Amino acid sequence: MDKIQTKIIKIDENNIVEELKKGAKIIKSGGLVAFPTETVYGLGANGLDEKAVKKIFEAKGRPQDNPLILHVSNKEQVLPLVEAIPKQVESLMDKFWPGPLTIIFKRSNLIPDIITGGLDTVAIRMPNNPIALKLIEYSQVPLAAPSANTSGKPSPTSATHVIEDLYGKVNLIIDGGNTGIGVESTVLDMSGNIPMILRPGGITLEILKKYIPNVQEDLSIIKEGETPLSPGQKYRHYAPRADMIVFNGEVEDIIRAINDYIRKLSQDGKKIGIMATEETKNKYNNGLIISVGSRQDKSTIAYNLFNTLRLFDKENIDIILAEGVESSGIGKAIMNRLNKAASGNIIQV
Ligand code: TXA
Ligand code: MG
Repeated sequence: MDKIQTKIIKIDENNIVEELKKGAKIIKSGGLVAFPTETVYGLGANGLDEKAVKKIFEAKGRPQDNPLILHVSNKEQVLPLVEAIPKQVESLMDKFWPGPLTIIFKRSNLIPDIITGGLDTVAIRMPNNPIALKLIEYSQVPLAAPSANTSGKPSPTSATHVIEDLYGKVNLIIDGGNTGIGVESTVLDMSGNIPMILRPGGITLEILKKYIPNVQEDLSIIKEGETPLSPGQKYRHYAPRADMIVFNGEVEDIIRAINDYIRKLSQDGKKIGIMATEETKNKYNNGLIISVGSRQDKSTIAYNLFNTLRLFDKENIDIILAEGVESSGIGKAIMNRLNKAASGNIIQV
């Protein structure tokens, strides 16, 4: 791949309109623009331009059969992209958009096959971030945008992460500060008979149940060995360079088990990283200990998760010992990401 000149701009209230109009120009001419959303940074291209979308796959090193999410800035943009908008789906859009809910629809013929990986469905969401919304609006097309990381690596929650992975591979990186949620959107399949969560995320099962009581979860979200319904879920994901083990169970048991591992691994001369929490960070006596937040406040843990995995890599850690969290609310998304980052290496204590 040829090296591209990458421009980096920091957005503030004084330059937002002017700079995003330039960003939109790049999109319209078939280029790549990385931008912040409320979940993680996205790598955007004109979603109706097959050639432009192809560049996303090249820049990320993404497998071709992994479909992309189309990002819109208003609900009217959805109609030409889908076969139909069922009543129930319309009320979900009213309730949760803009926000971290990606909805899967039956697709229309307008969408290039490269977006859907050959499926007869398409994933669409409206992000809740003023920079993202303006960029889409000025571009006048839906933006195809996966997370703006190299395929397989932890998702980017700051412009620095995007620069680490994509400098020289994209035309523009828009720095809008840290992303607020820190894990990706919930992917909800509304194209079949039963509403199905394919990826847990910002909008939780508990919340969705209030509006669609018959919603189910793809079993592969939580269980190893199940075949995922969403193509992207089958790949190694969110993975640091270091090996990783996740410890799940009661807090006291987690602390004991991690300390056992610290003893054994330091005898082998391994450089150990411990992903701890506020309540536990003083209970370990060796290794690089990073607290991701209080166990009482899982939103903060989600916010810090990917950045912490990247920090361990910067410190050349050999093995990360990570505390699991309770798998309710946003905790489910956290455990799903940890599970994948550790390639299913979870120890039940
Ligand atoms: O929060 C997010 O959703 C971020 C920001 C940038 O919007 N985007 C994101 O995109 O996480 P990506 O490409 O990293 O993940 C999209 C997920 C993948 O697991 C993909 O397989 C799934 O959505 N997906 C996309 N289209 C699908 C479809 N038609 N059927 C099933 N799964 C689909
Ligand atoms: Mg991704």
